[in-house]
Amino acid sequence: MKLASVPIALTQCAKTFRGTRVLEPLDLRIGAGETLVLLGPSGCGKTTTLRMIAGLETPDAGGRIAFGDDDVTALPIEKRQVGMVFQSYALFPNLTVRGNIGYGLRIKRVPADTARQRVDELLAMMRLTAHADKPIDQLSGGQRQRVALARALAVQPRVLLLDEPLTALDARLRDTLRGEMNTLLRELGITTVYVTHDQAEAMELGDRIVVMSAGRIEQIGSPRDIYYRPANRTVAQFVGTINRLAGERRDGMLSTTGGAVPLPSGATHASSAHEIFFRPEDAYLADPAHAQLRGNVESTAFLGERTRLTIGGAAPDALLIDVAGRVELARGTPVGISIVQDALIALS
Ligand SMILES: Nc1ncnc2c1ncn2[C@@H]1O[C@H](COP(=O)(O)OP(=O)(O)O)[C@@H](O)[C@H]1O
Ligand SMILES: [Mg+2]
Repeated sequence: MKLASVPIALTQCAKTFRGTRVLEPLDLRIGAGETLVLLGPSGCGKTTTLRMIAGLETPDAGGRIAFGDDDVTALPIEKRQVGMVFQSYALFPNLTVRGNIGYGLRIKRVPADTARQRVDELLAMMRLTAHADKPIDQLSGGQRQRVALARALAVQPRVLLLDEPLTALDARLRDTLRGEMNTLLRELGITTVYVTHDQAEAMELGDRIVVMSAGRIEQIGSPRDIYYRPANRTVAQFVGTINRLAGERRDGMLSTTGGAVPLPSGATHASSAHEIFFRPEDAYLADPAHAQLRGNVESTAFLGERTRLTIGGAAPDALLIDVAGRVELARGTPVGISIVQDALIALS
């Protein structure tokens, strides 16, 4: 299927509901064909941002939204050529699969043979051909989700907007569909804005991720930027798990309760009190005599592919360290821990 794709630009788009500012003025550039993920906790303003792009909400005075050279700020949703998929799918229960997918084409009075051809193409693309004439309530959750996507794509939108489309599904199905979604979005090449509060989804699907909190953008970057170079504590704590090492700076080292670690070169700080951060998978067990830090196993959690250790005494805060699933350590065991040098994160 041939889809156009346009870049999107939001300029100083804020949103106030009944006197309460829920979105601070935000600037966002989305490249043609890019998948941009809006990630953040519930209530941070993701859906509101998406609805402004869709034309379902108007930004406060001064905000502008453009699709390519086209200023769409004043255009209602039906004139913006956007396809939307919601968490609930909002499918029509009284229509068949075919009826749902072709709905927008009937509204637009697309000639019947063109419409039929396009619906057939989408049925095939979504592996729904065998289900074309079934009512919606005979489909699985994953199939419904594909119907909702096909319906959004049928009108050949310039932009695809998805609001937590996988959230309603159970965990295993969600993992499978996330992979399918990834393949599909890459094949389609359509400019996509994808809203989620799930970091695994954001990592897999996003060309870039926008981390939001409390109506603000905290960071925009590639999944690796967001994970390995978080801009601040809010991002570091929301995306993945992070450990804090607090102590005193001394000769390029951070000296803490259970030992010392070399500071990363970027860790410049005026006072001697200091802290650095690292991810649980970036530390390893080492001979206590030669390890950077010494502590004791406080508890262990066997998670199958890995075991997550909680280590006390190594730093003021307990540290979470991931080791191979087969590692078994009794509570109280003294351990040595070293941290992969490049994995230390300095946060302002
Ligand atoms: N129509 C509305 N009227 C009043 N407040 C709203 C409305 N829509 C959203 N909000 C508020 O705006 C904030 C952001 O909501 P939303 O964009 O839905 O967040 P998210 O999608 O990130 O969970 C929330 O505090 C929410 O209660
Ligand atoms: Mg939402």
